Amino acid sequence: MQEKLYGGRFEAGQDKFFEKFSESLHFDKRLIEADIEGSQAFARALESVGILNAEERARIVRAFDEIQTEARNPNYFHGANDEDVHSFVIRQLKEKTGVLADKIHTGRSRNEQVSLDTRLWLRSTIETTIAATRSLMGELLNLAAKHPQAAIPGYTHLRRAQAVLWPHYLLAYFEMFARDVERLRQTYDRTNVLPLGSGALAGSAFAFDRNAIARDLGFASITRNSMDVSADRDFVLDYMHAANLIMLHLSRLAEDWILYSGEEFGWLDLSDAVTSGSSLMPQKKNPDSLELIRGKCGRVYGAYSALFVTIKGLPLTYNRDMQEDKEQLFDAADQTIQCLNMTTIVAQNLTLKPAIPEKACAESWVVATDIAEALSRAGMPFHQSHKLAGRLVLHGIKSGKNPADFTAEELQAFDPHFTPDFVFILKDPRHGMQTRAVPGGTAPQSVASALVEARARLQSL
Ligand code: ARG
Repeated sequence: MQEKLYGGRFEAGQDKFFEKFSESLHFDKRLIEADIEGSQAFARALESVGILNAEERARIVRAFDEIQTEARNPNYFHGANDEDVHSFVIRQLKEKTGVLADKIHTGRSRNEQVSLDTRLWLRSTIETTIAATRSLMGELLNLAAKHPQAAIPGYTHLRRAQAVLWPHYLLAYFEMFARDVERLRQTYDRTNVLPLGSGALAGSAFAFDRNAIARDLGFASITRNSMDVSADRDFVLDYMHAANLIMLHLSRLAEDWILYSGEEFGWLDLSDAVTSGSSLMPQKKNPDSLELIRGKCGRVYGAYSALFVTIKGLPLTYNRDMQEDKEQLFDAADQTIQCLNMTTIVAQNLTLKPAIPEKACAESWVVATDIAEALSRAGMPFHQSHKLAGRLVLHGIKSGKNPADFTAEELQAFDPHFTPDFVFILKDPRHGMQTRAVPGGTAPQSVASALVEARARLQSL
């Protein structure tokens, strides 16, 4: 192992097993860019308090630039056995600048450095997550535009409930993902706070202008309590919470589309591009892409609860347990972004077969509520309308008739409240749909304006 950042107090070296056990370089190397960016800003801060002169600062910043370039080599970490990325970067600096590198950690602790690095990394990861979510939202709108007038049964209890427009259904998911973007932006705001200047836990003993460092690194503000900085991983959990909700929404969408593309529903074609076959059954075309999205949900939730439990009983402030945050965060972010991208590709390849859900509407009693409401509009108290419509449904089921099979005469004979115009309500679910013209409803004009609004909102989200 390489020399530690804390050699002086120890007489003997570490047990080899412990060294390996506690090493985090193999995963926190992902923070190297952030670590260097933060260290360059810190070098400028050290100049401002007189620890480095301008020439020394320039040499250090230049050396860091070189390390940044070298780190792009995929084999850069090969054979490195430093304790963590922070120790690794300082060793590289030492190789380039010699004893000058010994000044870089003046008044700085890895406890604040790891918070800084994670925040810098997370800021760009949040941006990537937002971009992936927005792409999917755009694809949902493209799907809606392909069949603006298609009707599908909406379900409650997975039983046909009321007819809705296909774009109305897609807009439901658009809303979920819009909230996800909002949540990610809030997470960004709580992440975008500079922790540097907090020292190990008590605050730095050097008179850094923390607001100047914040401006240098593009942070909106500075943290207010040094002990909080060393102990806090809320911003990581915030992101993971947002990621969890994205996964939850993706998983429900995946489940819907797995069902709707299966033989029992048969409305969607998933295309060959995102399906797999069976090694034994030649006819199979399985929705593996969507199943994996649904499946990865468990993994992302697991990461969230693992970190939650890790943090919950820790005494203030920093404890090494907190090193366990990164693998959970990295995996949650990787999986979430991947699943968003996969869903976008599935959506690009998705085809609605509108005649099938249309037929499903016609063969069921999705118009029953429309009938009851039309009776009430004509003056009948709703409980009575509900009962009368229910009796008509029962009669239809018993006599093997679909709603569209009823003539005006038959309806009249069944009950005189059914005036001839009821035939139109029974003939076409779109008739009732027209009445649901409140904002947020499925009437074609409401959906059309919701779609226009959604396009505009997506631009400014
Ligand atoms: N590798 C450590 C982590 O990820 C960095 C902080 C180490 N601090 C310490 N006091 N041992 O948490």
